[in-house]
Amino acid sequence: MGNPWETVSLDDYENHMKLDSVRQLQTMNQLIADQFTRYPVRNAMVLGVAGGNGLEHVDPERLETVYGVDLNQEYLAACAARYPHLTETLRLVEADLTAAEPDLPPAEMVIANLLVEYIGYPCFQRVLQKVFPEYVSCVIQINTDEGFVSDSPYIHAFDGLGSIHHQMEEEALTEYLAAIGYMLNYREECPLPNGKKLVRMDYVRS
Ligand SMILES: C[S@@+](CC[C@H](N)C(=O)[O-])C[C@H]1O[C@@H](n2cnc3c(N)ncnc32)[C@H](O)[C@@H]1O
Repeated sequence: MGNPWETVSLDDYENHMKLDSVRQLQTMNQLIADQFTRYPVRNAMVLGVAGGNGLEHVDPERLETVYGVDLNQEYLAACAARYPHLTETLRLVEADLTAAEPDLPPAEMVIANLLVEYIGYPCFQRVLQKVFPEYVSCVIQINTDEGFVSDSPYIHAFDGLGSIHHQMEEEALTEYLAAIGYMLNYREECPLPNGKKLVRMDYVRS
């Protein structure tokens, strides 16, 4: 059976995320702008890059290479079409991170926004051990009891995701990453209009 993310259209995903009642696309755009500039790295890997929200903040003078990883080919094609000025910088990698041996290059920094929810902590550990970044920056969503997808006209596009969704907890993420040598060094939270919040957590390899 395929991954349910293969059946979610990019339009449905982005239209849902940018609704005034959700505002995650806009919030994530601001967060990733800072993620791309905060650390002294020459390359970075965005896991679960989707349609490349925020890649306009990549400065090719600072970042030689940005890997955008996703399992959905439609999303990667949109990234390529949207950022033609990043042809020399953006390397798009089609990979299922839950595969036994995902084919991933090394990178100095990993950015994983709303991604660990769909692969789980142990798989995220394996991916980090393979990519071996110095810095890891994650955004996770902390839910109210309303469920992990906010109500919207697009909600049924996400019906299949429940089968692979893992509820995130800050302490658990920090424990799983500490177990493989990454220590929390920055945290910020962004409230969302629907009572949910996004929490950014950055880790450094010790
Ligand atoms: C909730 S979206 C987050 C997208 C983007 N990072 C953002 O913040 O808007 C999750 C993304 O991860 C991708 N994804 C989920 N599971 C994956 C897997 N096993 N391997 C690769 N990509 C995956 C999905 O296709 C989707 O693009």
